[in-house]
Amino acid sequence: MENWTKIEQDAKTWIYEAGEKIRQSFQKVLSVQAKSNPDDLVTNMDKETEQYLISKINHTYPDHKILGEEGFGDKPDSMDGVIWIVDPIDGTMNFVHQQRNFAISIGIYENGVGQVGLIYDVVHDELYHAVKGKGAYMNDAELPKLEDVPLNEAVIALNATWVMENKRFDHSKLVPVAKAVRGTRSYGSATIECAYVAAGRLDAYITLRLAPWDFAAGLVLLEEVGAKASTLDGKPINMLGQNSIFVAKKGIHDTILNEYLNN
Ligand code: IPD
Ligand code: CA
Ligand code: CA
Ligand code: CA
Repeated sequence: MENWTKIEQDAKTWIYEAGEKIRQSFQKVLSVQAKSNPDDLVTNMDKETEQYLISKINHTYPDHKILGEEGFGDKPDSMDGVIWIVDPIDGTMNFVHQQRNFAISIGIYENGVGQVGLIYDVVHDELYHAVKGKGAYMNDAELPKLEDVPLNEAVIALNATWVMENKRFDHSKLVPVAKAVRGTRSYGSATIECAYVAAGRLDAYITLRLAPWDFAAGLVLLEEVGAKASTLDGKPINMLGQNSIFVAKKGIHDTILNEYLNN
């Protein structure tokens, strides 16, 4: 039996240490490279942060597996056992351009079930964290269960890309959603957007293509506050692949799915 409280404490210690290293890096010259295309950035700090977290996890929990965005972990082909899913810097473009609105994210799963989630917004010094069944917290404050709002009072995270013609989703279904809500936002960090839904700062987050490290931690937090999470087709999320992601307060999720997306 794993001791999830101890595991969460360790992960918290390491995420704070990694955050401090990132803050210190603001004084140094950053090395920025493009990965799959010129807008897909990676820096030395993405790589160093992932390597730092992996060294800590491997040393303390040698039996656990690690899936990290920058590829220094294992490459698990199933969710069997304990897997740490790590995004060393989520929002690298923000990190490079703005030095804010990025986060370190760790989701820990056992046999496919989310047990621990941590999202650390480094510059705001906000750590969102949850252990399954024990509630979700922002720093020391417990996040209340989410209460529904009508769609016309909802503020949702939705990137402009998805309300323009695109190859992933029929944008004509999302335009009416953008019109129906009170407002749309886009923060450029999927983990922060998930954390904001969990914290009630946003009522929903809709996006068309995320990898496991973008949503693993967020899903644990969201479950604790009673949010609903699925793909944009209302299907279960595949923890090992790319997915569209739709997380929201329950009523907002049902309304958008049934009245706007599923017809
Ligand atoms: C990205 C951010 C961004 C989302 C992208 C992700 P990265 O993660 O979360 O908000 O729209 O799909 O890839 O690459 O900065 O860790
Ligand atoms: Ca990236
Ligand atoms: Ca990411
Ligand atoms: Ca990243």
